[in-house]
Amino acid sequence: MFGGWRRLALAIGLPLVLAGSGPAAAQGANISIACGALGVELTLCREAAQRWARQTGNRVSIVNTPNSSSDRFSLYVQLLSSQSADIDVLQIDVVWAGMLASHLADLEEDLGPRVDAMFPALARNNRVKDKLVAVPWYIDAGVLFYRKDLLAKYGFEPPETWDELTGIAAAIQKAEREAGNDRMWGYVFQGKAYEGLTCNVLEWVSSYGGGTFLSSDREITAQNPQARAALSRAASWIGTITPQGVLNYDEEASRGVFQTGNAVFMRNWPYAWALAQGEDSPVKDKVGVIALPHGPEGESAAALGGWQLAVSRYSRHREEAIDLVRYLTSAQVQKERAIRGAYNPTLIALYQDEEVIEANPFFATLYPSFENAVPRPARQAGARYNQVSDAIWRTSYGVLKGDRAPRSALERLTDELDRIAYRARWQ
Ligand code: GLC
Repeated sequence: MFGGWRRLALAIGLPLVLAGSGPAAAQGANISIACGALGVELTLCREAAQRWARQTGNRVSIVNTPNSSSDRFSLYVQLLSSQSADIDVLQIDVVWAGMLASHLADLEEDLGPRVDAMFPALARNNRVKDKLVAVPWYIDAGVLFYRKDLLAKYGFEPPETWDELTGIAAAIQKAEREAGNDRMWGYVFQGKAYEGLTCNVLEWVSSYGGGTFLSSDREITAQNPQARAALSRAASWIGTITPQGVLNYDEEASRGVFQTGNAVFMRNWPYAWALAQGEDSPVKDKVGVIALPHGPEGESAAALGGWQLAVSRYSRHREEAIDLVRYLTSAQVQKERAIRGAYNPTLIALYQDEEVIEANPFFATLYPSFENAVPRPARQAGARYNQVSDAIWRTSYGVLKGDRAPRSALERLTDELDRIAYRARWQ
């Protein structure tokens, strides 16, 4: 039945979770959906998809994908390039719309009006050459988590600039270590060489007023004094307020340190809120969420992230697959996901919903951060986005590691972006 998927899943060691079978499963279509990888994300997707199956008399199979977004992307590319009909609905990253567009069904007619009620940056992002390639499911924007209790204990206000964050982190780290917690660190973020680092770097550089590497008309802007200052500041954290191990941290690794109580500040996506507030969380009720700091000449910048639902062009059940996407992106399901998992709704109206705001007070206070989140240069780079992002995280990683000075790293990045632009005939 799921020959291709099953073989591929087994070959790369992925668990395949089948759901929604049972007595009623004899009729209707069997829709397979790849959504989420772990924990609450997978549970929420499975429960909602099963509800849809029960209501419509169809069946669903949940395909468990790798947690790392790069691995997920490779898996999708393998499947879609072979025009596999085994996957109907895919959860895709906001930066993949351009790269996967040719493999995805046009959802404009069925779901275009709904997408128009969502954040404009997301709506724009998912319309590639006048085709609606996916429906935004939740929006992500980088935010700063901080320990309210520790800042209050040492008499600090939450930081507004990166310099303030650096000073507060160093002071509290020192005091806490002297008081006996020798595992305390000032600041954790995503420093591993992968897509998450591109998001962090974009936030540093943009919040120093240093642009987004490629301007909206594809001019290469990587090399500038503000970008150099931002990278120098970030490099200064490693081994001082940030553990060396951050060079291997993704979202979950940094959350692990923060949630066990061993960091004053953490950069992460909103999902970390629901987990930090979990019944068994050592930092429950001790955490605040604010906009990320900015540099001396810039404004706070949150990288625009988030995930969308798309229908494969090769699906044999397009109508049912679109109906599943319609259900999963509805206000009802988005509300449930916001309350139970702190997944930011893409439907703007839900930011007026009292229960949503009660569960996630920062959805209201940080609304401007979501609305003005800074996109990675994915639209400009189109099918070349992965190469562009790879160049950004690889060169910045060298700076964090201490292998390269910011100026030389940014020169190299400029050369690499030049080469990509030349090959793509942007010039
Ligand atoms: C989050 C964001 C996504 C980003 C990824 C990087 O999942 O939603 O857009 O690419 O993190 O790790």
